[in-house]
Amino acid sequence: MKYFIGNWKMFGVPNSIYILKKINTFCSKDKNRKKYRVIITPPFTLIEKFAKIFKDKKISIGSQNCYHKDPFSSNTSAVSPYMIKSVGAKYTLIGHSDNRNEGDNDHLLKSKVQFALKNKLKVIFCIGENKVEKKNKKTIVVLKKQLQNVLEKKFNKKDIIIAYEPIWSIGTGKLPTSLELKKTAIQIKKILKNIFKRKSPAVLYGGSVDEKSIKIFKEINEIDGFLIGGASKSSKKFIDIIKNYYR
Ligand code: 13P
Repeated sequence: MKYFIGNWKMFGVPNSIYILKKINTFCSKDKNRKKYRVIITPPFTLIEKFAKIFKDKKISIGSQNCYHKDPFSSNTSAVSPYMIKSVGAKYTLIGHSDNRNEGDNDHLLKSKVQFALKNKLKVIFCIGENKVEKKNKKTIVVLKKQLQNVLEKKFNKKDIIIAYEPIWSIGTGKLPTSLELKKTAIQIKKILKNIFKRKSPAVLYGGSVDEKSIKIFKEINEIDGFLIGGASKSSKKFIDIIKNYYR
Protein backbone atom coordinates (compact mmCIF):
# COMPACT_ATOMS: atom_id res chain seq x y z
CA MET A 1 0.00 0.00 0.00
CA LYS A 2 1.36 3.43 -0.99
CA TYR A 3 0.39 6.75 0.58
CA PHE A 4 -0.17 10.10 -1.10
CA ILE A 5 -0.55 12.66 1.68
CA GLY A 6 -1.29 16.31 0.98
CA ASN A 7 -0.23 18.76 3.66
CA TRP A 8 -2.03 22.04 3.03
CA LYS A 9 -0.14 24.00 5.72
CA MET A 10 -1.73 27.49 6.10
CA PHE A 11 -4.03 27.19 3.11
CA GLY A 12 -7.74 26.79 2.54
CA VAL A 13 -11.23 28.06 3.33
CA PRO A 14 -14.50 26.09 3.34
CA ASN A 15 -14.89 26.53 -0.45
CA SER A 16 -11.54 24.82 -1.04
CA ILE A 17 -13.46 21.55 -0.69
CA TYR A 18 -13.78 21.60 -4.50
CA ILE A 19 -10.11 20.56 -4.70
CA LEU A 20 -10.76 17.43 -2.66
CA LYS A 21 -13.93 16.64 -4.59
CA LYS A 22 -11.94 16.54 -7.82
CA ILE A 23 -9.28 14.32 -6.26
CA ASN A 24 -11.98 12.03 -4.87
CA THR A 25 -13.70 11.73 -8.26
CA PHE A 26 -10.39 10.77 -9.86
CA CYS A 27 -9.54 8.25 -7.15
CA SER A 28 -12.90 6.51 -7.22
CA LYS A 29 -12.50 5.75 -10.94
CA ASP A 30 -8.75 5.12 -11.02
CA LYS A 31 -7.81 1.57 -12.02
CA ASN A 32 -4.94 1.71 -9.52
CA ARG A 33 -7.13 2.89 -6.64
CA LYS A 34 -6.62 -0.24 -4.53
CA LYS A 35 -2.85 0.33 -4.54
CA TYR A 36 -2.82 3.57 -2.55
CA ARG A 37 -4.44 5.69 0.13
CA VAL A 38 -5.00 9.47 -0.02
CA ILE A 39 -4.85 11.58 3.12
CA ILE A 40 -5.20 15.37 3.28
CA THR A 41 -4.21 17.48 6.27
CA PRO A 42 -6.08 20.81 6.01
CA PRO A 43 -5.83 23.48 8.73
CA PHE A 44 -7.79 22.86 11.97
CA THR A 45 -10.62 25.14 10.80
CA LEU A 46 -11.59 22.73 7.99
CA ILE A 47 -11.15 19.32 9.57
CA GLU A 48 -14.72 18.84 10.80
CA LYS A 49 -16.39 19.85 7.52
CA PHE A 50 -13.98 17.88 5.33
CA ALA A 51 -14.06 14.78 7.51
CA LYS A 52 -17.88 14.74 7.40
CA ILE A 53 -18.05 15.13 3.62
CA PHE A 54 -15.38 12.51 2.95
CA LYS A 55 -16.52 9.98 5.51
CA ASP A 56 -16.46 6.56 3.77
CA LYS A 57 -14.85 8.10 0.67
CA LYS A 58 -11.40 7.61 -0.86
CA ILE A 59 -9.88 10.53 1.08
CA SER A 60 -9.05 10.48 4.80
CA ILE A 61 -8.53 13.64 6.80
CA GLY A 62 -5.78 14.41 9.28
CA SER A 63 -4.52 17.37 11.29
CA GLN A 64 -1.15 19.06 10.82
CA ASN A 65 -0.21 18.98 14.48
CA CYS A 66 -1.71 18.39 17.92
CA TYR A 67 -1.04 19.66 21.41
CA HIS A 68 0.92 17.66 23.96
CA LYS A 69 -1.84 17.65 26.57
CA ASP A 70 -5.15 15.85 26.59
CA PRO A 71 -8.17 16.03 26.56
CA PHE A 72 -8.58 19.67 27.74
CA SER A 73 -6.25 22.24 29.29
CA SER A 74 -5.95 25.97 29.95
CA ASN A 75 -3.43 26.59 27.14
CA THR A 76 -4.67 29.33 24.83
CA SER A 77 -4.91 28.26 21.15
CA ALA A 78 -4.03 24.62 21.86
CA VAL A 79 -5.94 21.77 20.20
CA SER A 80 -5.64 18.29 21.70
CA PRO A 81 -5.62 14.87 19.99
CA TYR A 82 -8.94 14.15 21.73
CA MET A 83 -10.52 17.26 20.16
CA ILE A 84 -9.08 16.43 16.73
CA LYS A 85 -10.36 12.87 16.87
CA SER A 86 -13.79 14.08 18.00
CA VAL A 87 -14.34 15.98 14.71
CA GLY A 88 -13.54 12.99 12.49
CA ALA A 89 -9.80 13.15 11.75
CA LYS A 90 -8.08 9.78 11.44
CA TYR A 91 -4.46 10.93 11.23
CA THR A 92 -2.18 13.63 12.56
CA LEU A 93 1.19 14.90 11.42
CA ILE A 94 3.63 15.24 14.31
CA GLY A 95 7.12 16.74 14.21
CA HIS A 96 6.93 18.69 10.96
CA SER A 97 10.10 20.79 10.62
CA ASP A 98 7.96 23.95 10.69
CA ASN A 99 6.86 23.00 14.21
CA ARG A 100 10.28 21.74 15.31
CA ASN A 101 11.51 25.19 14.26
CA GLU A 102 8.91 26.80 16.47
CA GLY A 103 10.11 24.86 19.51
CA ASP A 104 8.73 21.32 19.36
CA ASN A 105 11.48 19.23 20.95
CA ASP A 106 11.75 15.43 21.26
CA HIS A 107 10.20 15.45 24.73
CA LEU A 108 7.08 17.32 23.56
CA LEU A 109 6.91 15.25 20.40
CA LYS A 110 6.88 12.05 22.42
CA SER A 111 3.89 13.27 24.47
CA LYS A 112 2.13 14.27 21.28
CA VAL A 113 2.64 10.81 19.77
CA GLN A 114 1.47 9.12 22.98
CA PHE A 115 -1.72 11.19 23.24
CA ALA A 116 -2.46 10.86 19.53
CA LEU A 117 -2.16 7.07 19.66
CA LYS A 118 -4.23 6.94 22.84
CA ASN A 119 -7.02 8.72 20.94
CA LYS A 120 -6.70 6.32 18.02
CA LEU A 121 -5.23 8.85 15.63
CA LYS A 122 -2.64 7.36 13.31
CA VAL A 123 0.60 9.32 13.50
CA ILE A 124 2.59 10.60 10.53
CA PHE A 125 5.88 11.34 12.26
CA CYS A 126 8.14 13.73 10.35
CA ILE A 127 11.91 13.66 10.48
CA GLY A 128 14.65 15.29 8.43
CA GLU A 129 18.08 16.87 8.44
CA ASN A 130 18.93 20.47 7.58
CA LYS A 131 21.39 21.73 4.97
CA VAL A 132 24.36 22.01 7.34
CA GLU A 133 23.77 18.55 8.81
CA LYS A 134 23.65 17.11 5.30
CA LYS A 135 26.84 18.94 4.28
CA ASN A 136 28.60 17.56 7.37
CA LYS A 137 27.39 14.03 6.57
CA LYS A 138 25.33 13.90 9.76
CA THR A 139 22.06 12.88 8.10
CA ILE A 140 21.79 9.36 9.51
CA VAL A 141 22.96 10.42 13.00
CA VAL A 142 20.29 13.15 13.06
CA LEU A 143 17.51 10.89 11.77
CA LYS A 144 18.44 8.13 14.21
CA LYS A 145 18.23 10.53 17.14
CA GLN A 146 14.90 11.95 15.97
CA LEU A 147 13.46 8.42 15.72
CA GLN A 148 15.00 6.88 18.84
CA ASN A 149 14.15 9.81 21.12
CA VAL A 150 10.45 9.62 20.34
CA LEU A 151 9.40 6.16 19.16
CA GLU A 152 9.10 3.11 21.40
CA LYS A 153 8.65 -0.58 20.80
CA LYS A 154 5.35 -0.55 22.68
CA PHE A 155 3.76 1.78 20.08
CA ASN A 156 1.88 -0.20 17.46
CA LYS A 157 3.87 0.19 14.24
CA LYS A 158 0.65 -0.15 12.23
CA ASP A 159 -0.45 3.18 13.71
CA ILE A 160 2.73 4.99 12.74
CA ILE A 161 3.96 6.28 9.38
CA ILE A 162 7.35 7.95 9.06
CA ALA A 163 7.75 10.90 6.69
CA TYR A 164 11.35 11.66 5.78
CA GLU A 165 11.48 15.32 4.77
CA PRO A 166 14.96 16.78 4.34
CA ILE A 167 14.51 20.42 5.40
CA TRP A 168 16.70 21.69 2.54
CA SER A 169 14.26 20.13 0.07
CA ILE A 170 11.01 21.57 1.46
CA GLY A 171 9.63 24.18 -0.93
CA THR A 172 13.00 24.65 -2.66
CA GLY A 173 12.78 22.39 -5.73
CA LYS A 174 15.98 20.69 -4.51
CA LEU A 175 15.80 16.90 -4.45
CA PRO A 176 18.00 14.09 -3.19
CA THR A 177 19.27 11.83 -5.98
CA SER A 178 17.39 8.53 -6.23
CA LEU A 179 20.46 6.64 -5.06
CA GLU A 180 20.88 8.98 -2.08
CA LEU A 181 17.22 8.62 -1.16
CA LYS A 182 17.25 4.86 -1.58
CA LYS A 183 20.25 4.59 0.76
CA THR A 184 18.67 6.89 3.35
CA ALA A 185 15.35 4.99 3.22
CA ILE A 186 17.18 1.70 3.78
CA GLN A 187 18.98 3.20 6.80
CA ILE A 188 15.73 4.62 8.22
CA LYS A 189 14.04 1.21 7.92
CA LYS A 190 17.02 -0.42 9.60
CA ILE A 191 16.73 1.97 12.57
CA LEU A 192 12.96 1.40 12.70
CA LYS A 193 13.34 -2.38 12.62
CA ASN A 194 15.63 -2.05 15.59
CA ILE A 195 13.11 0.03 17.54
CA PHE A 196 10.07 -2.06 16.61
CA LYS A 197 11.85 -5.41 16.54
CA ARG A 198 11.80 -6.83 13.03
CA LYS A 199 9.20 -4.99 10.93
CA SER A 200 9.36 -1.33 9.96
CA PRO A 201 6.42 1.10 9.67
CA ALA A 202 5.85 2.70 6.25
CA VAL A 203 8.43 5.32 5.26
CA LEU A 204 7.39 8.22 3.04
CA TYR A 205 9.39 10.93 1.31
CA GLY A 206 8.50 14.63 1.38
CA GLY A 207 10.15 17.71 -0.12
CA SER A 208 9.46 19.31 -3.53
CA VAL A 209 7.39 16.36 -4.74
CA ASP A 210 5.35 17.40 -7.77
CA GLU A 211 3.97 15.92 -11.00
CA LYS A 212 7.45 16.08 -12.59
CA SER A 213 9.77 15.07 -9.75
CA ILE A 214 7.56 12.08 -8.84
CA LYS A 215 9.02 10.20 -11.83
CA ILE A 216 12.46 9.87 -10.25
CA PHE A 217 10.97 8.22 -7.14
CA LYS A 218 9.13 5.46 -8.99
CA GLU A 219 12.01 3.01 -8.89
CA ILE A 220 12.68 3.38 -5.15
CA ASN A 221 10.78 0.43 -3.67
CA GLU A 222 11.83 1.36 -0.14
CA ILE A 223 9.68 4.51 -0.28
CA ASP A 224 6.06 3.76 0.67
CA GLY A 225 4.56 7.06 -0.42
CA PHE A 226 4.84 10.82 -0.38
CA LEU A 227 4.08 13.83 1.80
CA ILE A 228 3.24 16.64 -0.60
CA GLY A 229 3.08 20.32 0.31
CA GLY A 230 2.73 22.96 -2.42
CA ALA A 231 1.51 20.59 -5.15
CA SER A 232 -1.33 19.27 -2.94
CA LYS A 233 -3.14 22.61 -3.17
CA SER A 234 -3.91 21.95 -6.85
CA SER A 235 -6.20 19.02 -7.69
CA LYS A 236 -4.58 18.75 -11.13
CA LYS A 237 -1.04 18.54 -9.77
CA PHE A 238 -2.03 16.09 -7.03
CA ILE A 239 -3.88 13.85 -9.51
CA ASP A 240 -0.97 14.05 -11.98
CA ILE A 241 1.41 12.96 -9.22
CA ILE A 242 -0.64 9.78 -8.73
CA LYS A 243 -1.06 9.24 -12.49
CA ASN A 244 2.64 9.70 -13.23
CA TYR A 245 3.66 7.46 -10.35
CA TYR A 246 1.74 4.51 -11.83
CA ARG A 247 2.40 5.34 -15.48
P1 13P B 1 6.73 20.92 -0.49
O1 13P B 1 6.11 19.75 -1.19
O2 13P B 1 6.02 22.21 -0.79
O3 13P B 1 8.22 20.98 -0.68
O4 13P B 1 6.49 20.70 1.09
C1 13P B 1 6.82 19.50 1.68
C2 13P B 1 6.26 19.47 3.05
O5 13P B 1 6.75 20.14 3.94
C3 13P B 1 5.11 18.61 3.29
O6 13P B 1 4.88 18.44 4.66
